[in-house]
Amino acid sequence: MHVVHSPDFVREAVKRITEAAHAAGGGPFRLSLCGGKTPAAIYEALALEDLDWRNFIITFGDERCVPPDHEESNYRMVSRALLDRVPIPKENILRLKGEMPAQEAATLYEQQLRERAGDEVFIHDMILLGMGEDGHTASLFPATSALGESERWVVANEVAELGAWRLTFTFPLINSARRILFLVKGEEKRKLVEGIARGGGHSYPAAMVKPAEGSLIWLVG
Ligand code: 6PG
Repeated sequence: MHVVHSPDFVREAVKRITEAAHAAGGGPFRLSLCGGKTPAAIYEALALEDLDWRNFIITFGDERCVPPDHEESNYRMVSRALLDRVPIPKENILRLKGEMPAQEAATLYEQQLRERAGDEVFIHDMILLGMGEDGHTASLFPATSALGESERWVVANEVAELGAWRLTFTFPLINSARRILFLVKGEEKRKLVEGIARGGGHSYPAAMVKPAEGSLIWLVG
């Protein structure tokens, strides 16, 4: 893992995402977006970039089990910050349907990915991930069943500490990406990242992200 401390967190994140987009060389750029609060400013800045948006294929690493217009919805946050501002074809935005029964939504999403991937795993050019102070990433929370999923790419995950279900990518899908970029802000999380970089934090789901062949960058702001 490579940790990058950047005082200009948003600019550095945008730079890395745009570099990955350019590396797609005019072909499809499969980008997975994370939720939470940290990335909103990054998405707003990214929307101002002059990119070949028609080549973007957008997925979501996780979603809350709420409708897309709910204040908790990652899709709502991402749409306001980015998707409503750039000309990505609607058919290229693969929304996790939080309003559906969780298992059905996860199965449907995986089918959508498989339809596009053919027989191989759906390989993202870049997956953006956040991390909670408990070391969760996407909606892979400590001591939840999704951590042990080794076949499926997308699952419904019951998160007792939240008293809620979530939809989430699993490690097989995350770890097949060409590039993984963690976006982590704040002193508490910075200490977590340093612990993981020193080989600690084995129980943290975020520490279990180990791309098979891709790059793994932790951007700390
Ligand atoms: C979510 C995210 C989650 C998030 C972390 C960090 O749905 O909340 O996907 O994994 O990235 O919880 O969230 P903050 O950026 O709000 O601290």
